[in-house]
Amino acid sequence: MASLQKLRSQRWLDRDEFRSFNHRSRVMQMGYDPQDWVGKPVIAVLNNWNDFNPCHQHFKHRVEEVKRGVLQSGGFPLELPTVSLGEVLIKPSALLYRNMLAMEVEEMIRAYPVDGVVLMGGCDKTTPAMLLGATSADVPAIFLPAGPMLRGMSRGQTLGSGSDAFKYWDERRAGTISEPQWMSIIGGIARSAGTCMTMGTASTMTSIAEAIGMALPGAAAIPAVDASHQRMATACGRRIVEMVNEDLRPSVIQTREAFLNGIAVAMALGCSTNAIIHLIAQARRAGQDIGLADFDRASREIPVLANIRPNGSSQYLMEDFYYAGGLPALMQRIQGFLHLDQKTVTGRTVAENIAGAECFNDDVIRPLADPVYREGSLAVLRGNLAPDGCVIKPSAMSEKFLQHAGPAIVFDDYPSMKKMLDNPEADVTEDHVIVLRNAGPKGGPGMPEWGMIPMPVKLLKQGKRDMLRISDARMSGTSYGACVLHVAPEAFVGGNLALVRTGDRIRIDVPGRSIHLEVSDEELARRRSAWQAPPPRFARGYGWMFSQHILQANEGCDMDFLRTEFGDSAGEPDIF
Ligand code: FES
Repeated sequence: MASLQKLRSQRWLDRDEFRSFNHRSRVMQMGYDPQDWVGKPVIAVLNNWNDFNPCHQHFKHRVEEVKRGVLQSGGFPLELPTVSLGEVLIKPSALLYRNMLAMEVEEMIRAYPVDGVVLMGGCDKTTPAMLLGATSADVPAIFLPAGPMLRGMSRGQTLGSGSDAFKYWDERRAGTISEPQWMSIIGGIARSAGTCMTMGTASTMTSIAEAIGMALPGAAAIPAVDASHQRMATACGRRIVEMVNEDLRPSVIQTREAFLNGIAVAMALGCSTNAIIHLIAQARRAGQDIGLADFDRASREIPVLANIRPNGSSQYLMEDFYYAGGLPALMQRIQGFLHLDQKTVTGRTVAENIAGAECFNDDVIRPLADPVYREGSLAVLRGNLAPDGCVIKPSAMSEKFLQHAGPAIVFDDYPSMKKMLDNPEADVTEDHVIVLRNAGPKGGPGMPEWGMIPMPVKLLKQGKRDMLRISDARMSGTSYGACVLHVAPEAFVGGNLALVRTGDRIRIDVPGRSIHLEVSDEELARRRSAWQAPPPRFARGYGWMFSQHILQANEGCDMDFLRTEFGDSAGEPDIF
């Protein structure tokens, strides 16, 4: 047990002075007695729940199980609701608000008498946001993943969230699907609480949180509505009290090697491209130098073992992954690529956590000798079109576009592009390269998930299902196709993407990791001198602050003033 002197909450609740009198009387106002808190760590249970977030419906009640665990271990639990970013209902993009939630988490931990935190999150941006905030606050923290929803179902067919939405939307546009089929898909694709059950951004980020060591072993794959999820929530409550007593903080767990473990696991999972942005931001908050090169290197070395949609032709989803043994089983299979000596929230090492893990289905979690893909979860391309890099997902695209050159069709905004996509007479072939710009961090704004540009209806009716598409946007982790994303610098700030004209030839070579606009440097210089910056997206408020301070995709889209190296990081002052 930590001595009372070490408890941060003591500054509020155990001093014989006027302000402490106020603090204690107001805690008693809530019906608590000094026996509830004296000598006990105060645990804030950060509950990322609201009625606009269907993925976190169960958190409204699940928080009670966390509190039960805190009480069992001798802590004092207090619920601290946070802004909840329900990915599917937020416009223009939940990424616009990731840093707002991160700031809220950091500041509320600082502002309140908190000794340790349980972070309840899972829907796409909530995991990185809460971990960003907790990383900067650096009090003991454990992440409780929301867990995936049950597999989707319609007319006897398994459905995967996101992936099948895109697939069947294309079929609807191609006229191959009936109204009753369509209504059955709408009602069956998301049929329980929990996060998207494909290997999208949610499952990617919760799995990475576990791989880094910030969540309990096996936690990420437990379905949200499985009774094991309730028990895991209680275990989180019990463990955070012990972590406070051990002073086990994110800064101890989140080493560079821990983030490399996160990247290795992401590659073996066939992860969402969004992982790159979030992991770079989180690593840099932790003071660790992680960049695009770390992802590309790991992608070349580590095979995709998780046979989960949207990768490959698999029908498997996160529920199947859980039954197959979950992340500990996968980590055991790639242990040769992991830093096994890293400490985790259990207080034990990665090696100790995964010892004894078993795989119960070799088709869901493939052996190293029989991977889904030998390499290629992600690839980072560079060239004159993306001097600071861009990203593509070779494992989820047609091989014929891995090396391709074709004429560009350029759009400055989504509505004008949509007109072409919906025009059955459009002048487009599968050899064309569709370019969408002004959809990056500042231009989107918030880098919306527009990067999986829908196929032109003209080509769909010809039976085509893939073509090369390039943007400075992101795409959903559940998406697929030959989509080049995260072009940096973005067009809105004058990146070379802003200089492309319809008819210019663009060449990509994924094995060679290059992307090239076949226009001479002299001509590009002429176009640049004529380029005019678009008007700012925001004139006031949070959007204005975001626009002023957001970093580019290759730097993780954090705010410049939230970086660890910004300003004085001498720790919180004890002056209030
Ligand atoms: Fe919440 Fe997909 S919409 S995880």
